[in-house]
Amino acid sequence: STPAPLDLNNVQGDILAGLPKKTQTYFFFLIDESRVQAFRRQLATLIPLITTTAQVFSHHEKISQNKKDAVGRGVSPSLLKISGVNIVFSQKGLVKMGINDNIGDDVFRKGMLADAPTLGDPGTATSDSPDWVPAFKQGVDGMILVSGESHQTVAETLAEIERIFFVGAHCATIHEALRIVGDVRPGKEKGHEHFGFLDGISQPAVRGVNATNNPGQEFVRQGITLLGREGDDKFNAAFVDQGPNTRPSWALDGSFLAFRYLFQLVPEFQTFLKRNPIAGLAPDLGSELLGARFVGRWMSGAPVDIAPTHDDPALGKDASRNNNFRYAFPDDSKTQDRCPFAAHTRKTNPRADIEDLNATTANANEKHRIFRRGVQFGPEVTAAEAASGKTVHGRGLLFAAYQSNIHFGFQFLQNNWSNTANFPPKTGPTGAAVISGLDPLIGQNAAGARSMIGANPQSQSTSLTLPTWVVPKGGEYFFSPSIPALKATFAL
Ligand code: HEM
Repeated sequence: STPAPLDLNNVQGDILAGLPKKTQTYFFFLIDESRVQAFRRQLATLIPLITTTAQVFSHHEKISQNKKDAVGRGVSPSLLKISGVNIVFSQKGLVKMGINDNIGDDVFRKGMLADAPTLGDPGTATSDSPDWVPAFKQGVDGMILVSGESHQTVAETLAEIERIFFVGAHCATIHEALRIVGDVRPGKEKGHEHFGFLDGISQPAVRGVNATNNPGQEFVRQGITLLGREGDDKFNAAFVDQGPNTRPSWALDGSFLAFRYLFQLVPEFQTFLKRNPIAGLAPDLGSELLGARFVGRWMSGAPVDIAPTHDDPALGKDASRNNNFRYAFPDDSKTQDRCPFAAHTRKTNPRADIEDLNATTANANEKHRIFRRGVQFGPEVTAAEAASGKTVHGRGLLFAAYQSNIHFGFQFLQNNWSNTANFPPKTGPTGAAVISGLDPLIGQNAAGARSMIGANPQSQSTSLTLPTWVVPKGGEYFFSPSIPALKATFAL
């Protein structure tokens, strides 16, 4: 039968709202082959600890009330103790648990390691994902995400979870495969990824979930992220268990998580900008502009499509303006005066570039929208690293994105867009095809050769050879089940 209207108490909190991000631990685990039934019984004990979307939204309200109260009393707001827990499973984990229904997503079922050549991970042309860390090469069964406002809170919550599954080391039902700690960067870098750019600005709004949207922020249907809801390409009004284009009923209100362990070569990136400033400007501005044209936004978050020549920090932080652009100024579709065709934000959300190609579809971009929830990992760049221009300490982005269809979501953005030189399909002022090159941040291929055009607005057809600054060291595709599915299908 047609599913009941969406209840946010049923959906895990990271999917539609995002767990608190100050610090997050990603705990990847393997289920003990001989203790699967015991694990499923213990899972029932974990479920009450799982944070739902409804709870995250109510946290947000408490935090803003707390801030208002503090302002009213003329004091600085106290830090509310907040923690969040979510659990997700890989296909390997589902099979180990005896859940063998076809969930209807082939990319998920094959797993990310098998997908690494399609994603263009360097080296995969000649060998088997050479950069990947062993845990992801061997495969993991699931991941528990624990987040909080402090390391102390996360440690307490993790200890509680360990008490559930590790009842004595000799009879633990799960084993730790890998633990990665992500932390928002300190001080004024808060919210900025390690290259220095404000991140997490552009997210879709969801119909029936978010009451309002900011100018330029698009509403998508619930099924773009939740399985079984309208907009899921496998949505079937009858929602029966058998037949083509259907999902098992336990998949309703779950979502696929694409997790990538992305290392960033920050001193190397900064050195490149310093050595290749856009000519004709003061050197610092020339370097800054090159970085902004790589990303599509200045470090403050200001979009180059609105502010093409100078950063505008007030614009960067103004939610009523910082998403209100479509690469659709009169000159934008044919020239790169404002934004290179290959810029990271233009490749991964081409806005009018593809909507206009599909003028009959209300929004051709909708099915490619993802919900990004990543966080930074690793220390700040040290003085020695900055001086040598060489990375010594590992750092980067724990990329995490939800969608109902991995092919149209993360995989499409990486493979068909960022890695594809002739996307977006463009013609220049003379009508000749323009090959934009690769996304300078994440565009990659197995052979490792990268270049783009349009980095320099004064010389838009000049090709710029790009070193690699983002190195994927693994990841996995996971399924984040609804609370009812966890209770009825996953736990015993
Ligand atoms: C936007 C950085 C990896 C997809 C952004 C922004 C930054 C950024 C600074 C602009 C902020 C915003 O618009 O919210 C990075 C870095 C990465 C990385 C440093 C790797 C270390 C990825 C990957 C994907 C991706 C792997 C997907 C395949 C997106 C999308 C947007 C975005 C969809 C929003 C574009 C828009 O709606 O205008 N990223 N990103 N990013 N990124 Fe990434």
